[in-house]
Amino acid sequence: MTTEVDRYAVIGNPVAHSKSPQIHTLFAEQTGQKLAYTAELAETEQFAPTVKNFFQHNGRGLNITVPFKEEAWSYATQRSARAQRAGAVNTLKLLPDGVVYGDTTDGVGLVRDLIQNHGIPIKDRSILIIGAGGAVRGVLEALLEQRPAYLLISNRTRHKAVQLAEDFSELGNIAGCGLDELNQRQFDIVINGTSASLQGDLPPLPDTIFNQGACSYDMMYAAQPTAFMQWSRDNGAQQVFDGLGMLVEQAAESFYLWRGVRPMTGPVIEHIRNILT
Ligand code: ATR
Repeated sequence: MTTEVDRYAVIGNPVAHSKSPQIHTLFAEQTGQKLAYTAELAETEQFAPTVKNFFQHNGRGLNITVPFKEEAWSYATQRSARAQRAGAVNTLKLLPDGVVYGDTTDGVGLVRDLIQNHGIPIKDRSILIIGAGGAVRGVLEALLEQRPAYLLISNRTRHKAVQLAEDFSELGNIAGCGLDELNQRQFDIVINGTSASLQGDLPPLPDTIFNQGACSYDMMYAAQPTAFMQWSRDNGAQQVFDGLGMLVEQAAESFYLWRGVRPMTGPVIEHIRNILT
């Protein structure tokens, strides 16, 4: 690199579709920070050398996306408490002493989007979260910190939900079950954390899960409402949101970690929403 500017990037495979370069470039413009942010493709076996090379060439920080979040956790030489528990890292920061600091900002992103952007309180509410993969694991601590009445994880493969709930049981009122155990149960907030929306698919759910006034949230986003969002509307959810706000909020938290400056997220969410295709 000939340029002296601090470099940041999102690293993944695939990564070309990522909105992170646009989001961080908007943050940098808005806050007057001089930096470059790109998308970097790493081959499957090449995560560690790609990161090392990036940090050797003016790289200061990375966002990590699928499928490298667990590898990034191992790569980090120091981790935040929340990343330690999540077992995954979506943000790396190179510290001046050469330490590679790993953090996870997805949970903060979800909670800020719900509470601040959408005005949905979490405290004392009942939450159902569907799915028990890495995406769900990454947001549990932040949700439990808000002291919901309880949080139920429900997954197609039941034992994964039960295990995940056990892993976080010290942090709050949390349990796990199968999708076929949701009959007769209602919730204030229902979050889809499965990857089903990526295939335009829908987890099989009873049509009675929404409490009066309930909110439904898909951690995925798309130009059009996802199948889960449409289903939620048709089955009694009063408010329905996608995960675009979460994406921008987790990016803002990474930006803050790297630069010590908090960007405004509202205008960036709006901008990205308008260019979704
Ligand atoms: P991620 O890192 O995105 O969480 P993952 O770890 O592969 O990806 O987890 C995907 C989650 O979506 C899992 O909980 C998966 O359920 P299983 O554990 O039973 O595989 C869930 N999932 C994916 N497609 C689904 C579908 N069509 N219906 C229900 N659950 C689905």
